Amino acid sequence: MSYIIVTFCPGAVKKARGFFTKCLMFSLFAETRRRRFFLPRQALRGTMEETHSYPFVEETAMSIDLRSDTITQPTESMRRAMAAAEVGDDVFGEDPSINRLEELSAQKTGKEAALFLPSGTMSNLVAILTHTHNNARFGEVICEESSHVKLNEVGGMATIGNLMCRPVKGVRGAMPEEAVRAAVQVTDIHHPVTALICVENTHNFAGGAVLPLQNLAAMRRVADEFSLPLHMDGARVYNAAAALGVKVSEITRYADSVSTCLSKGLSAPVGAVLNGSREFIAQARKYRKLVGGGMRQAGILAAAGIVALTEMTERLAEDNENAKLLANGLAGMKGIGLDPAAVETNIVIFDVKATGMTAPAFCQKLGEAGVRCLDVGPYAVRFVTQRHFDKSQVPAVLKAVESVL
Ligand SMILES: Cc1ncc(COP(=O)(O)O)c(C=O)c1O
Repeated sequence: MSYIIVTFCPGAVKKARGFFTKCLMFSLFAETRRRRFFLPRQALRGTMEETHSYPFVEETAMSIDLRSDTITQPTESMRRAMAAAEVGDDVFGEDPSINRLEELSAQKTGKEAALFLPSGTMSNLVAILTHTHNNARFGEVICEESSHVKLNEVGGMATIGNLMCRPVKGVRGAMPEEAVRAAVQVTDIHHPVTALICVENTHNFAGGAVLPLQNLAAMRRVADEFSLPLHMDGARVYNAAAALGVKVSEITRYADSVSTCLSKGLSAPVGAVLNGSREFIAQARKYRKLVGGGMRQAGILAAAGIVALTEMTERLAEDNENAKLLANGLAGMKGIGLDPAAVETNIVIFDVKATGMTAPAFCQKLGEAGVRCLDVGPYAVRFVTQRHFDKSQVPAVLKAVESVL
């Protein structure tokens, strides 16, 4: 049939070709729109680290992303280090880059040894499993009421560790000494047995609050009194060190183990490091294997982690300062509830109830005005500063906020 058309109707062939070309162009156009308008929304849903509604926002001329410091891209120096990384099989302990990262991290946090893991969530889980393996049958973990291990790690301690979570209400993330002491359970046959105390520093949902060193000393006191281990979820502990102007080991010395994240403000693409005693880390290595975190030539990732720990910790002070600038500007705005003095590091959480909007509605509108952020409660909105957000962008963010009020 096509032969007949080609032979006898050259005009028809031209028309048919034109028609098919138009079809092809239309389907390409439709696919581009589909990718642009639908895929980003699904992609976002799948990748964000916390529970929120993720407003789908069409890209505008200005697009400032304050959702999280997890959005940071690896630096050029990281990419070069990754390309050149010496690697080996880490399950056999033979990856030189991972070994170097672990040594460096242990040295910085003042611990004997360290373990590289794919994520902060796995690092906390492995720490919890390792600390509690003797009494996991009826064990309980004391942690702050709005801590990440309790709210945002899929209940791993319960589902995988057979552990109860015993929440204690904190003051800006810091659990009061007496409340923790009162929460410890050791003898009554009815009760689960306290197996671990867990603190979070900085405290994400307390607006990046830094736990005072006196509070850490108090947690250490209670832990020693009852011979309990103390774990620190230090996902952003380098931000805490920058805020206090101390070495990170001044903070981590109170805890038996500390989990630190490389892929937040420190900008590495992947990874966390768990630090502790040699014996603890040897045991943790086994638990990492149990939960599927034993990696092979992952030195390619650790290479970026080394850059994170050697080149990126100092600059976190800048993120902390930029958060303060945002907080000072926001605090004067009608309907925004925020105490700027409470902003110590790179997280700003503010209340929008008095604006008449819910947090998801506020985030949606602000997104349309060019600034992406997250709702972290019905009326609580979170801004997180990071390396890609520059101080010169502060006025634009404040202007965008004013425009949606
Ligand atoms: C305080 C805190 N701990 C742990 C984590 C978990 O880190 P990851 O996303 O690498 O699992 C996060 C992530 O945002 C966090 O904020």
